[in-house]
Amino acid sequence: MKFSLFYFMLLLVTCVEVVFCKQPNIVVILVDDLGYNDVGFRGSNQIQTPNIDALAYNGAVLNRFYTLPTCTPSRAALLTGNYPIRSGFQGVPITAGEDRSIPTDMSTLPERLKELNYTSHLVGKWHLGSAHQNATPTGRGFDSHYGYWNGYMGYFNHQIGNPGFQGLDMHNNFQPDFETVGKYATDLFTDRAIKLINTHDYKQPLFLLVSHLAPHTGKLDEETNNTVLEEKSAHKMNRRFGYIPDVKRRRYADIVNSVDESIGEIVNALSTRGVLRNTMILFMSDNGGQTFGMHENFASNWPLRGLKFTHFEGAIRGTAVFYSDKLTRKGRINDHLIHITDLLPTFYKAGGGDPHNLGEIDGMNQLETILKGEPSEREELLINIDEVENHVGIIGYQGRYKYINGTIYNNTYDGYHGAIGRGKENPKYNISAVLQSDVNVALAHLSFNRLTVDGIAKRRKHLQSRDCRQFLPINLDCYPCLFDLWMDPCETRNIARDQPTILVNLMRRIDEFWKNLVPQQNKPVDPRSNSANYENVWTTWLDTDE
Ligand SMILES: *[C@@H]1O[C@H](CO)[C@@H](O)[C@H](O)[C@H]1NC(C)=O
Ligand SMILES: *[C@@H]1O[C@H](CO)[C@@H](O)[C@H](O)[C@H]1NC(C)=O
Ligand SMILES: *[C@@H]1O[C@H](CO)[C@@H](O)[C@H](O)[C@H]1NC(C)=O
Ligand SMILES: *[C@@H]1O[C@H](CO)[C@@H](O)[C@H](O)[C@H]1NC(C)=O
Ligand SMILES: *[C@@H]1O[C@H](CO)[C@@H](O)[C@H](O)[C@H]1NC(C)=O
Repeated sequence: MKFSLFYFMLLLVTCVEVVFCKQPNIVVILVDDLGYNDVGFRGSNQIQTPNIDALAYNGAVLNRFYTLPTCTPSRAALLTGNYPIRSGFQGVPITAGEDRSIPTDMSTLPERLKELNYTSHLVGKWHLGSAHQNATPTGRGFDSHYGYWNGYMGYFNHQIGNPGFQGLDMHNNFQPDFETVGKYATDLFTDRAIKLINTHDYKQPLFLLVSHLAPHTGKLDEETNNTVLEEKSAHKMNRRFGYIPDVKRRRYADIVNSVDESIGEIVNALSTRGVLRNTMILFMSDNGGQTFGMHENFASNWPLRGLKFTHFEGAIRGTAVFYSDKLTRKGRINDHLIHITDLLPTFYKAGGGDPHNLGEIDGMNQLETILKGEPSEREELLINIDEVENHVGIIGYQGRYKYINGTIYNNTYDGYHGAIGRGKENPKYNISAVLQSDVNVALAHLSFNRLTVDGIAKRRKHLQSRDCRQFLPINLDCYPCLFDLWMDPCETRNIARDQPTILVNLMRRIDEFWKNLVPQQNKPVDPRSNSANYENVWTTWLDTDE
């Protein structure tokens, strides 16, 4: 009797699951150049991110989520499910005015999701080509695009380019959006995302990629020819972050804070629309932070080694936080090896597709790993092969060992940099702010298992980074390097001489990948693209130039 009741209940639950087993909406919030240390759950009190933290404590932190070391390669990997070496995208990111785009024989994530009836929208950055309309987001599977085509733009003027070669890159599909000039980019993208969430007809599942400018640098400083950060409001910034002595770092904090608020607003909109329960949310950065140098944004990857561009953990071990009510455990720290190329097959699977239909791609379905914590099938991941710079890297042996050969920009970015954020000058971690955050309030409606003050403190303690730079001083040269990431996540000790077999095996793997590498497809800037010819607006110049 008892048993049949149990089975009846089970059946009921299963039926309910099937009847309402709708394809999930997928919302990916992608940020640009966020530092590993610049979210509150990693233990820094300097820049507190209550909404992102609430997502982490209610969801899962993908603790070993790897990306490419720079923008264009990372985004190509995300959208194609392939290593950039398969398409010649492994080198320097696309420059404004360069005619390069992802090959049409590779399907993109929104194209794949369209097979499953998803409607897809891109809000914000593209950076995968715009010489032709068919190279832009709406040519590559998105139903709409609101945002910019190139690598960055001013937060307020929405321009990119060098003096004499500079123009507006804010577009509503193909229409330049002059009305938004002077408005803060993070707000514009947030508002557009909310509008899409509110107006979407959920008979079809939604894929929304919100690809923020923040916290990348934007405006060109004509005195230095470097790009710089702009705060939303100096008054608010100084009131809130006055304890940060360096005004440039303060500006970065302000920008990250706006992103955090944006996530709160987006999750709140999903909740108000009544679709949060059936939505998977991923918050992630395309690569690590850039503390100084080219596009310096004063981010911090502490305690990890290396900045953006390098093959060290600081460049490629990205921040990634996932939420779905189908997670079998709340607040999981997922230490399985996951690569950015895995997102395409994983979301395809989540949408009801069979990843076997995707053909030969580098990405692997990780849905069960993410939802249930099951071991990852991924045993290795190629960091990258930059055949122009002779800069290679791979992680093998179930994620334990990393081989690097070569460097980039003469070792400039290979060390340890950025704020630690644990000093007494910083405010205490505000647990109430996490509890009261928009994200937590929205998620608390979905679950009986709500966060508590103690629960948050405990989760943060498990998640926070500890200093692991014990073997200083380091030898910067990697010709070659081998690191044991399990014992030495800060990459302080080169064990290439101690482990010759492992070294040789990983070198061989690089050689195998190299055999099938498509050479870099980078092209010089096409002078015809000059926005000065088009009333200072970036266009799909090879379509319009008759
Ligand atoms: C997509 O929609 C069409 C038409 O409504 C339907 O026939 C088809 O089964 C749907 N495909 C999936 C994967 O849900
Ligand atoms: C900045 O770049 C422009 C052209 O792109 C060049 O003419 C100018 O000299 C550069 N300025 C500095 C300070 O390097
Ligand atoms: C490592 O890089 C150096 C410099 O580019 C090169 O001379 C050497 O052949 C590389 N070693 C391997 C094993 O690829
Ligand atoms: C790297 O160093 C070499 C030799 O010192 C120099 O010629 C080259 O310009 C430097 N490259 C960069 C990107 O700094
Ligand atoms: C903590 O956050 C809450 C909610 O945002 C706020 O009301 C409170 O003033 C904050 N406490 C401190 C000490 O900043």
